[in-house]
Amino acid sequence: MKIACLLGSPRKGSCSSAIAGQLVHAAVGLGATAETFTLNDLSYRGCQGCYACKKSLDHCILNDDLTGVLEAVQEADILVMASPVYYGDITAQMKGFFDRTFSYLKPDYLTNASPSRLAPGKKMVMIQTQGHPDEKSFADIFSRYRMFLDWTGYTDCRLIRACGLSPDSSPETLAPYLDQAKLLANELLNP
Ligand SMILES: Cc1cc2nc3c(=O)[nH]c(=O)nc-3n(C[C@H](O)[C@H](O)[C@H](O)COP(=O)(O)O)c2cc1C
Repeated sequence: MKIACLLGSPRKGSCSSAIAGQLVHAAVGLGATAETFTLNDLSYRGCQGCYACKKSLDHCILNDDLTGVLEAVQEADILVMASPVYYGDITAQMKGFFDRTFSYLKPDYLTNASPSRLAPGKKMVMIQTQGHPDEKSFADIFSRYRMFLDWTGYTDCRLIRACGLSPDSSPETLAPYLDQAKLLANELLNP
């Protein structure tokens, strides 16, 4: 099993990265291989809306630091997207990646029963951290992105949510989410 893990927080040592790191660590312990990308360290542009990936190419026309990330995600069996909530959504860094996954869709994706260029059977994990302690707040994010992930072929999507966190959150606060990440790694690798 190959994992591509994308870290969307701009903070070094962020909570979302710690949870993602635990999931990857546990999965590697179970025999997976993993590549982790800290999106904030990369230089890339958002989708240009040129539709080259629908008209003349089967990949994104842009050639920047995200090119290798898109290739790694395409090759991976499991995509991990870890992001804090920023103003009710994933971070700009993660959204920049997400828009570029438009290149994974076939030209007739709106009408094609198999709209994705990716191999079937891939799994996806979203790790969502937020400051707001109420789980009902920002519960829409996963379902909104899930709909588009479904087009791309990610029919098995999982969520780890950690609410009420801040940059000062203690290791004790994070501990249950790290445990959840370990359990999920086990579920994904030993279904
Ligand atoms: C620019 C900015 C916007 C934020 N917007 C929200 C928000 O809309 N809802 C929320 O619950 N927390 C919000 N937060 C708080 C972060 O989601 C929270 O601190 C999170 O735990 C950070 O995760 P990280 O440690 O993975 O970076 C915001 C923080 C920043 C810096």
